[in-house]
Amino acid sequence: MKNLKEKTPDISSFQCPSSPSSYFLSFEGIEGSGKSTQLKNLKSYLEGLEYRVIILREPGGTAFGEKLRGAILASEEALHPIAEAYLFASSRAQLLNQVILKELSIKKTVVICDRYIDSSIAYQGHARGLGTETILKIHELPPLNSLPHQTYYLDIDLQTSFERQKARGNEKDYFESESKKFYQKLIQGFKEASRIFPDRIKIINGHLEEERVSADIQKYVNRLLGISH
Ligand SMILES: Nc1ncnc2c1ncn2[C@@H]1O[C@H](COP(=O)(O)OP(=O)(O)O)[C@@H](O)[C@H]1O
Ligand SMILES: [Mg+2]
Repeated sequence: MKNLKEKTPDISSFQCPSSPSSYFLSFEGIEGSGKSTQLKNLKSYLEGLEYRVIILREPGGTAFGEKLRGAILASEEALHPIAEAYLFASSRAQLLNQVILKELSIKKTVVICDRYIDSSIAYQGHARGLGTETILKIHELPPLNSLPHQTYYLDIDLQTSFERQKARGNEKDYFESESKKFYQKLIQGFKEASRIFPDRIKIINGHLEEERVSADIQKYVNRLLGISH
């Protein structure tokens, strides 16, 4: 009998937006993995190739999304994971409808999201325990069933994350054991997302020096854009 844990979820309702010369990309990874750094580097690289590049953050990116972001961050009571999952999903649906899909209909445009569905799988699905299937189910209906053409998961270990956050001057004690467990679950969640979407999610070694990480990302982008070097 098949082990339930190893069951592969049904992802047939998902698709990439069809946009002949435009692309939808996302960055994923825990805090300190280098998303902001690499997003900036990829933007310059793509602009050098004469693409229009739109950078978006989640939740946010629309007036409604920014309000939701404020509500989530300012919440004084702990949010139920299902409330959290739907808040992120509503912000995402608005962002897709108002911004992402419209931008992608313009020629030679690249939309890059700082976190997207895989963060929902890692945070609400894994770390908050809703399960991956629940997150996928929430995203079944259009426009939420739109997936990036490529996703770069910047893979770093817990220790590197904490060291970089400390160096960045983050005051919170991230060595506290609960938070360690939480981060470990996030990493497992990202790995699970990579198993479910092996073609879309490119696992990038985020421990390497910045330029090496950028080069690894560019290798995949070139392949997507049909550029041979
Ligand atoms: N490849 C790297 N090697 C070492 N330090 C890095 C690397 N990439 C980013 N950093 C540093 O780590 C910190 C976190 O990077 P950042 O891009 O803000 O990560 P994120 O947006 O994923 O939280 C920053 O201080 C940044 O300068
Ligand atoms: Mg960042």
